[in-house]
Amino acid sequence: MRLSLRFLVPLLVALALFAYAAVPLVDTLTTRWFVRDLDIRSNLIASTVAEPLADLIETGSSTRILAFFHRLTSDERLYAVGLCLPDRPAPIATGAFPPELRCSALAPYLTVGDHLLRTAKGVVHVAVRPVGRDAQDRADLVLVHDMSFIERRSEETRRYLFWFFVALSASVALITVVIAQLSWRGWVAGLRALLRGEGILRPSAGTAPELRPIARDVQALLRELEHQFRPTDESQQRWTEETLRAVLRGEMRGDDIIVVSNREPYIHVATPQGVRVQRPASGLVTALEPVMRACSGTWIAHGSGSADRETVDRHDHVAVPPGHPRYRIRRLWLTPEETAGYYDGFANEGMWPLCHIAHVRPTFRTSDWEQYRAVNAKFADAVVAEAHSDDPVVLVQDYHFALLPRMIRERLPNATIITFWHIPWPNPESFGICPWRDELLDGLLGSDILGFHTQFHCNNFMETVDRFVEARIDRETFTVVCGGERTAVHRYPISIEWPPAPLAQAPTVDEAHERVRVRFNLPRDHRLGVGIDRMDYTKGIVERFNAIGRMLELHPEWVGRFTFVQIAAPTRGTIDDYRDYAERVRRTAAAINDRFPGAAHPPIVLVAEHHEPDAVYEYHRASDICFVSSLHDGMNLVAKEFIAARDDERGVLILSQFAGASRELPEALIVNPYDADQCAEALHVALTMPADEQRDRMRLMRNLVREFNVYRWAGRMLLDAAAMRQRKRFRDRIDA
Ligand code: F6P
Repeated sequence: MRLSLRFLVPLLVALALFAYAAVPLVDTLTTRWFVRDLDIRSNLIASTVAEPLADLIETGSSTRILAFFHRLTSDERLYAVGLCLPDRPAPIATGAFPPELRCSALAPYLTVGDHLLRTAKGVVHVAVRPVGRDAQDRADLVLVHDMSFIERRSEETRRYLFWFFVALSASVALITVVIAQLSWRGWVAGLRALLRGEGILRPSAGTAPELRPIARDVQALLRELEHQFRPTDESQQRWTEETLRAVLRGEMRGDDIIVVSNREPYIHVATPQGVRVQRPASGLVTALEPVMRACSGTWIAHGSGSADRETVDRHDHVAVPPGHPRYRIRRLWLTPEETAGYYDGFANEGMWPLCHIAHVRPTFRTSDWEQYRAVNAKFADAVVAEAHSDDPVVLVQDYHFALLPRMIRERLPNATIITFWHIPWPNPESFGICPWRDELLDGLLGSDILGFHTQFHCNNFMETVDRFVEARIDRETFTVVCGGERTAVHRYPISIEWPPAPLAQAPTVDEAHERVRVRFNLPRDHRLGVGIDRMDYTKGIVERFNAIGRMLELHPEWVGRFTFVQIAAPTRGTIDDYRDYAERVRRTAAAINDRFPGAAHPPIVLVAEHHEPDAVYEYHRASDICFVSSLHDGMNLVAKEFIAARDDERGVLILSQFAGASRELPEALIVNPYDADQCAEALHVALTMPADEQRDRMRLMRNLVREFNVYRWAGRMLLDAAAMRQRKRFRDRIDA
């Protein structure tokens, strides 16, 4: 309103001045038009009366002339008429004839023009026209018109103009106020939209032109803010537990952190010797556990251990790591039906084969889907119960919880939800076969950030959303806006802690080699390869064994001098495909060993048992080769663990091109696990690789894993989340 007044007052003053100047101008113009009219009228009267008046002049009768004039002045505007004859000094004139007009002084009125005379009775118009038949009879006819009506009209015109300008000013003022209010509102709305990030994060085609400079300024401000929030990211060379803690204390302002995963980081198992703590074979746990040690907070997971219930408090909490508590697990109990439907059925018989190209067909059952939904809702309840504020940071993990982000968003609208998908995301055709694809996508789009290991998986996700969801997709910033909510889809390649904790107690490389050699009764100079996996069909264990067999065929000099130890942790044993696969792995190992009956030592040793991290590190340090032959894998942290374990800069990593890790570790020997000959050749190259080359490759890979460790992985996501939270608080302040 104040803005409108500031604009209106000068406008009205200008209008008043204009009116003040316009009235005299209009007055002059109208007077001129009337005078011209009277001149024309006088001509008309003179020419009309010329003939009869000439006759009357010839009669010489003043009385008759005067009578004629009286008839003429019956026209109300013709005020007076007079006739000046050459031989008479006074005119023959009607009574109102102005005495100021004398016959001897008529010359100025003879021409057509602006002849006004101010008399005692007012202003009159005087026109003098010659009449008479010849020059001797020439007389001057004097026609006097009343001009008072002009004054009356001028007065009327002035009044009319006054009201006209009043009306005009009122209309202009009204229109100005309305337009100013509308554009002010539009401008404010535009500015608010800018501050909400619209027109800043997206190309600014929709941004009002007058707001573009402001958009640029706000962009610069946000960049600066983001820059301030990232002092420890790009510029920070080393990410450590302490760096991550500093991010939480600083950028996240000590906000509440809640992790949700199906698998728990510590499982309490009842054994005849008492309760034992087990660390599961899980890339997710390997990565997140050190992060939680740094961040504290609460980790909600399925309590699946046989002694889990015995070890929790009355709120189902247990502090971990055992003996040195840094954070707490909140255990959730699932019934056998829930586990069968949600975990075995929907997650592992449906989603797992759906997302991995391992040529195992997914199975989808409605009953499994219902359990999946119910268990997701159960975890949502637990998140709400564990949150200390209405805006916690929730880290949702993996394909077991595709519905959870939306469920949390509905219950805690201010939460910052970061979902990480640990397995690959397939192309839209593959994903589209899931009968509940729309629900799964909608659930995931409840996240603020959705993370994948590789750009390829991000691209697949965006294409899937594009295919099945009505949403706005920004491929420049990699964000999806659906129902007014924004999800950033970014690549965060997962990693391991650096330095790895198990290395602190690990034996030297020579000691480790010695222990393994003795364990399997192998000679001193025996060469060792290792594979460490869950017994999962995606890991390509059968293909790996076939490659070993092929290598021994092609390079028989290694028969009896090389043994491959395969550690295969039992997993998902209630599922037919897993049981069948475990059987195939056993048969393949036996068949290959049988193919080389003369070998003093078996080519393959299969240890299908769970191993704790220390034991895993011992195998890594003992081996010349680590062979990771996944048919499809989100990342595969075993590859990074092998590198981390080799502080002696020795050992060769053979890595499947279908594992996400191959994008980051090109110094490994990259192979196609389906190509047995190529893999066999890689094994031979690895066994004969000079120490220098091993060191050069290992050094580069170690530098990468050291720099891109799990603290950086978590830190980058938390910094992105912190920037989002900061922006949201800023927008809320502006909106308020
Ligand atoms: O890393 C992928 C992953 O499926 C994790 O989500 C899971 O914890 C791990 O592998 C092991 O699988 P599971 O938890 O079913 O034993």
